[in-house]
Amino acid sequence: MSLLHVHQMLRRASRGVALLVAIVVGAPAAAQIPAAEYAARRATILDDAGDGIVLVLGAGEPPENYSSFWQTPHADWLTGIREPGMALVMVRRGAMRAQWLLVEPKNPDAEVWTGRRLGERDAARRTGLATRPASDLDRLVDSLLAAGSGPLRVVRHRSEGGELVWRDQRRLDAIVQRHPGLTLDDADALITRRRGRKSAAELALLRRSIDITVEAHREIASRIAPGVYEYEVQALLEYTFRRRGADRPSFASIVGSGPNSTILHYNTNERQMLAGETVVVDIGSSFQGYAADVTRTYPVSGTFRPDARAVYDIVRRAQAAAEAAATPGANAALMSRSADSVLAAGLTALGLIDAPGAMYDCGSADAPRRCRQLRLFYMHGLGHGIGLDVHDPDQYYDTGVLAEGSAFTIEPGLYVRADVLASLPDTPGNRAFVERRRAAVARYADIGVRIEDDYVVTAAGVEWVSRLPREANEIEALMAARRGR
Ligand code: GLY
Ligand code: MN
Ligand code: MN
Repeated sequence: MSLLHVHQMLRRASRGVALLVAIVVGAPAAAQIPAAEYAARRATILDDAGDGIVLVLGAGEPPENYSSFWQTPHADWLTGIREPGMALVMVRRGAMRAQWLLVEPKNPDAEVWTGRRLGERDAARRTGLATRPASDLDRLVDSLLAAGSGPLRVVRHRSEGGELVWRDQRRLDAIVQRHPGLTLDDADALITRRRGRKSAAELALLRRSIDITVEAHREIASRIAPGVYEYEVQALLEYTFRRRGADRPSFASIVGSGPNSTILHYNTNERQMLAGETVVVDIGSSFQGYAADVTRTYPVSGTFRPDARAVYDIVRRAQAAAEAAATPGANAALMSRSADSVLAAGLTALGLIDAPGAMYDCGSADAPRRCRQLRLFYMHGLGHGIGLDVHDPDQYYDTGVLAEGSAFTIEPGLYVRADVLASLPDTPGNRAFVERRRAAVARYADIGVRIEDDYVVTAAGVEWVSRLPREANEIEALMAARRGR
């Protein structure tokens, strides 16, 4: 037996064990999105697509050893099938429409290692789709193209950085080679647009995910203390995720204390927390694929020291201002502008910037540019959609306005990196700015604060779902109450 075989056997074995454990302890019920809703989503995509073929390639076996399988959001949204190697083919030509789901066939020998597969019959029963073995995909696409059913629009599986996964790239290159003159179109935008409006069933799953994430915050609030390591907090909160039936964290949990609180996506979580620091805990569970995203900033000692509290209160006021601007039909840009003006006024009051609208030199000698000083301390957007991805499309990206079916975050922050002034381009204007602001930066150095909540829009209005204490005194009370328990 080759090393490769041993490797494959071990990998399958670990999957089988994982499945067995899930059956014994009782995994959460299967997807609660009804089959009819998936069918309606597919019909909408075909309506939008016009004549041609839409090919959706799901995720393959994980490329890393022993890692868990997760379906790609587009394939999940269209079918609810969460198995490696699936594909969906949809065709429209005039009034004619057809769809096929391709899945790996049942294979008892392989399933000893991989755990059970749906197979063609059960996949057809669950989805109502005509099914075929995954190995038929090339033949099916070839025959449709030969019958003149093009153009071919494709949803490809991209890795984090947007790179096309090699397996898909090879398959698509081969299709183009077999059909000279064929060009591939991208179906990504079609589906992204429709995913931006969440159904009632999706919002129900999101609420579950957000509730679990809120519970995790409540669990850790009492465990944060000087001397505790960031990874201990991570372990406790991820324990709560799984204990409550979440699939996994929807992104790498962020537990950043002291200087790490100023790093936006810090997630190595390896530092010991010290008295007097703040710790940013930005976390989200994924429940049946739906991602929550909730951040609280805690004082490690249980009470904010005055400088940290001053920064905290500005961020909280900015969030409240954005939230007040978040009403159905409201312009989403207005939320951002409302938060920006509170943050800019607050930074001015702390002496960290010259004035709310003040600028600094951010370009190069060849291409001089001016940027807002605000951006040195608040460098991300106000929020984003949430759904099957933690950064999910939302309809307001297209329309500019909040509407029923939106699900999104509001997450202002301020981050005083100790070396923020050291990296500015060396210009006369910047040198004077640095001199004016050096003392304030030293005073507030290593304080990072982000407050992030999750909202959904229903017929009743915009609802704050991630209900969890968030005023500075409420955070302190939460930490104290649970410590005293
Ligand atoms: N946790 C990633 C974000 O807040 O966008
Ligand atoms: Mn977020
Ligand atoms: Mn977040």
